[in-house]
Amino acid sequence: MQMTRDLRIVSVQEWREAAEGTVSVRGLSAWYGRHRALTDVSLEVRPRSVTALIGPSGCGKSTLLRCLNRMHEVVLGATVSGQVLLEDEDVYGSGVDPVSVRRRVGMVFQQPNPFPTMSIYDNVAAGLRLAGTRNRGVLDGKVEQALRQAALWDEVKDKLRKPGTALSGGQQQRLCIARALAVDPEVLLMDEPASALDPVATARIEELMVELKRDYTVVVVTHNMQQAARVSDYTAFLLSEDGGGGALVEYGETRQVFEEPRDERTRDYVTGRL
Ligand SMILES: Nc1ncnc2c1ncn2[C@@H]1O[C@H](COP(=O)(O)OP(=O)(O)OP(=O)(O)O)[C@@H](O)[C@H]1O
Ligand SMILES: [Mg+2]
Repeated sequence: MQMTRDLRIVSVQEWREAAEGTVSVRGLSAWYGRHRALTDVSLEVRPRSVTALIGPSGCGKSTLLRCLNRMHEVVLGATVSGQVLLEDEDVYGSGVDPVSVRRRVGMVFQQPNPFPTMSIYDNVAAGLRLAGTRNRGVLDGKVEQALRQAALWDEVKDKLRKPGTALSGGQQQRLCIARALAVDPEVLLMDEPASALDPVATARIEELMVELKRDYTVVVVTHNMQQAARVSDYTAFLLSEDGGGGALVEYGETRQVFEEPRDERTRDYVTGRL
């Protein structure tokens, strides 16, 4: 009897771990004032995988990404309707603290944006300090771990006190990834993370995305079809037609979306005709 109960607890734990980082978007619409930017988007983001959001400029990719961690509402007059479930909790539920959502769902932007007055170390430690971590040994350990995960440790370990802004663009972007990882998120959102980088730095970010999906759910916006095909497991194609706000046209395994699209509009887009 005792054993059965223990087994059940283990399996519930396993179930929880398997679900960690699952993002379910249900009937999501978003506005900037009266301008509708997204229309009724529903999709299930699989945990520990890379999902690419693709579509023409203005179709709402960045808006969708920012709705996932409640960054959308930071814009004055911006509103949403629908649900975004992180595991089984609606991040828009009453009483949910947007700051805690953003800790669980980290974000990296198009332009690397290390905190300009801070050292490499302090950039990575900033979120931890904000959350109340003061112990030097704990901070050191977490900073090193995050920098290793972001494939930057070897390049910066001897100059942690140098300003973050003194790094190259590609290194700055990996620093921003380390900063996001330091607070132990479940999901990492990346909005065109390599579009400001040269091909070598881009390749490093792409490799990193593939490594990160072992531990995190990664959602990446990209205009680069080859990049989406190379790094992502799932692809969502959005399109804004007749100024109606971006809607989800197709969502599926990346290979299917690129090689056997179900919708003609997807085919036109991925082959560059749209
Ligand atoms: N801060 C804002 N205020 C008002 N409208 C906005 C704002 N940000 C985006 N929009 C509008 O919302 C729609 C979706 O924009 P969004 O930035 O999400 O598109 P996108 O797919 O990320 O485009 P891009 O590929 O150019 O980055 C567009 O019509 C855009 O003009
Ligand atoms: Mg965008």
